[in-house]
Amino acid sequence: MYFELTEEQKAVQQAARDFTQQELLPGVIERDRDMIHPTEQLKKMGEMGFLGMMVSPEYNGGGMDTVSYVLAMEEISKMDSSCSVIMSVNNSLVCWGIETFGTEEQKRKYLTRLATGEIIGSFCLSEPEAGSDATHQRTTAVDMGDYYLLNGTKNWITNGGKSSVHLVVAQTHPEKAHKGINVLIVETGWDGVVIGAKEDKMGIRASDTHTIMYNDVKVPKENRIGEDGFGFKFAMKVLNGGRIGIAAQALGIAAGAYELAVKYSKEREAFGKPISQHQAIAFKLADMATEIEAARLLVYRAAWMKDQGMDYTSAAAMAKLYASEVAMKHTVEAVQIHGGYGYVKEYHVERLMRDAKITQIYEGTSEMQKVVISRKILSGQLYEPLWKVENE
Ligand code: CAA
Repeated sequence: MYFELTEEQKAVQQAARDFTQQELLPGVIERDRDMIHPTEQLKKMGEMGFLGMMVSPEYNGGGMDTVSYVLAMEEISKMDSSCSVIMSVNNSLVCWGIETFGTEEQKRKYLTRLATGEIIGSFCLSEPEAGSDATHQRTTAVDMGDYYLLNGTKNWITNGGKSSVHLVVAQTHPEKAHKGINVLIVETGWDGVVIGAKEDKMGIRASDTHTIMYNDVKVPKENRIGEDGFGFKFAMKVLNGGRIGIAAQALGIAAGAYELAVKYSKEREAFGKPISQHQAIAFKLADMATEIEAARLLVYRAAWMKDQGMDYTSAAAMAKLYASEVAMKHTVEAVQIHGGYGYVKEYHVERLMRDAKITQIYEGTSEMQKVVISRKILSGQLYEPLWKVENE
């Protein structure tokens, strides 16, 4: 077992750290407060290669491994999770999905531009009545011969008002339940695509989240990803990787809050000494450091397993479950350490605490991660059992 990063991975981590300080720190508080989309920052992220990190160079990507990707996600999330959620959706769901399961034509037409950030993508699964219960898609894609007629409404769509390409999950054969679902590549500019209201969110406020309506949208057959009926499997497979990205985001939020708490507690004095010298604070820092490190090991391990071609379904779910809980818990602690200063918007920990909450909700709630993990346990796929179950 070898825990050291490669020189290349360390270089990616450092580049992301420098980028965060130079390009994301200026204006991050204002962008969050006023819900200003980070358009300029994203352009630079595209130039740096952060929007198509794992895509093969053949399609204009960085050709990097998943470990490098999570290192960059972690650093960027320490400062600006609005930018990192856009990065995560574009990399893990849209680019990875098209590269892994798309046709050569789809890759040339869409992936080559998504990988550079020239255009941004959205992943459209959630509906007003289908969030966690993702098989119950009300959106329909009726087979009309050489095209699908798409109708339905999608909710909580990250990048909804800014993306040029949507991967839309829709039901084609209701009698086949989840085996009748397809994923279609839809362009924003097509007739019948209506971008609805922008959400006014608790956190990740600079990222753009919308409802999207599809009214009799004609989608050419060649824009279906995979075989007829592959859509639900596609969604589950991209979400496995997406959960690694969101786990890295949660890790970055927790680590960012922790680093601010350490700094503040060494500067702030009370009762004649820095508050870090009081055991009540020092023990909090020790707990934070330990649990963040445990989350980091889970996140890096899930990424590494993906790079090795192993089954990373439960590893990704565990990483997201644990890292998001650590993010929520320790951003609250970081606010507590800052006292009244932690409660005002000019201090970054206030934003990090609000941003942490969404990591327990999107790309599958914590409860859904537990569904994924417990199914692996009960089907005997997670660990080699020492004890045999008598009646199995
Ligand atoms: N990986 C691969 N395949 C999977 C899978 C996984 N994680 N989970 C399920 N499958 C497969 C199953 O093997 C099964 O295949 P077969 O038909 O061949 O047997 C098929 O999918 C159906 O599976 P289930 O019967 O287990 O389906 P279910 O209805 O019980 O649901 C679930 C399983 C895990 C709860 C799933 O519905 C789920 O993950 N829900 C959460 C949805 C989600 O994450 N939404 C996030 C929205 S996107 C987002 O947030 C992006 C953003 O903007 C940031």
